[in-house]
Amino acid sequence: MRLQGTINLPPDKSITHRAFFIASIAQGRTRIINPLFAEDTLTTLKILAQLGVNVKKTKEEIEINGKGISNLREAQKALDCGNSGTTARLLMGLLTGLPYEYTLIGDASLSKRPMKRVVSPLSLLNSKIILTNDDYLPAKILPTTVKSNTVSLPTSSAQVKSAIMLAALKCTEETVLYLPGASRNHTELMLSYYGADISFSDQVIKISGKNELQGREITIPGDISSAAFFIVASLIVPDSEIILSNCGLNPTRTGILTVLNQIGAYYEILNQRIVNNELVGDVLIRFTKTLQPFIIGGDLIPLLIDEIPILALLATQIPGTSIIKDAKDARVKESDRLRNTYLNLRKLGCQIEELPDGFVITGKTELQSNVVDSFNDHRLSMMLKVAKLLNHNIEILNDECDKISYPNFEKDLSKLVK
Ligand code: S3P
Repeated sequence: MRLQGTINLPPDKSITHRAFFIASIAQGRTRIINPLFAEDTLTTLKILAQLGVNVKKTKEEIEINGKGISNLREAQKALDCGNSGTTARLLMGLLTGLPYEYTLIGDASLSKRPMKRVVSPLSLLNSKIILTNDDYLPAKILPTTVKSNTVSLPTSSAQVKSAIMLAALKCTEETVLYLPGASRNHTELMLSYYGADISFSDQVIKISGKNELQGREITIPGDISSAAFFIVASLIVPDSEIILSNCGLNPTRTGILTVLNQIGAYYEILNQRIVNNELVGDVLIRFTKTLQPFIIGGDLIPLLIDEIPILALLATQIPGTSIIKDAKDARVKESDRLRNTYLNLRKLGCQIEELPDGFVITGKTELQSNVVDSFNDHRLSMMLKVAKLLNHNIEILNDECDKISYPNFEKDLSKLVK
């Protein structure tokens, strides 16, 4: 068995959420080409409809008639963010500063994820959000007028900085955000694309007050976090060679390519181009016989934060000791991804030590048959399906959650198997 062929990647989840939110507060019509239709992004769309946004959906596109920055309406019911952290956190910035009260709720997993990290910096803009037990959903967003300020964020989180930017659009003066380092900058790029007066780097973002956004057509690139599963699959299944077409290559997302450089994997980037401010290209990746172990941490982690489980699997297939550190944030994703990756890989016979902020993994391991569990976390489910390529007797519990970000993952993976 080997993997061979071309995958047209699913559209980027982070960029799709942002396109839905930003189009809703722009003036006029936005056509969104190639949006992600998966559970998380549909959750965002449903909430926007509750807020009075006119959304038209066809098979491959979404058309949104934006309402302007401060014209979202009152909601009759609580806004259910389901499993989606991006929906909940960006909504806090989008809805604060409006003259209504909103309630945000989420599923069991989202209700355990920390929200104070968004609410605290937003309060510096005069936002008033009340959290359950000071950190969790349900959240009540109270009516206020937001005021610009200078805010320093303690952690590199794209969700947090995006919430502040969405709130800052409603202020009358300039808001300045100081950041500890790079994290995905899709909001900054998209706000500029829609005409906002914004300047940004990895360290500082400045947004002027009284911004107006103009609706315009936008095309969503493929998701590199989904590509990561195929990248690792082709590196662990001998003789594989695949092409991942239309892959988003924004440098704040390509931490995995840095890992490929470290381990000496063979890959090529073809047809590089800029699409609506985002770098896009095709990735050719080929099975490479001799791979070196890797050590990752520090500023690289936010650039591959969602790839931690699949990179842990990769480490189990490389001779020698790999280390993943400074990734404590992976514990507060859709599940505790450090704990759950550790529990699963140990069950498969891997030599893995769990650290408070990562792992020490020594390969190469022949994966054993066992029953493993996604713990309803889509990135764990897809990682385990890649592991299953090496041992068909692995049984995965709760493997339906791929639909959160990549409903066709299993089908696409099986298309590559030759
Ligand atoms: C996301 C940012 C990251 C990432 C999440 C999506 C986004 O979270 O893990 O899957 O779309 O902004 P943090 O901002 O909390 O690091």
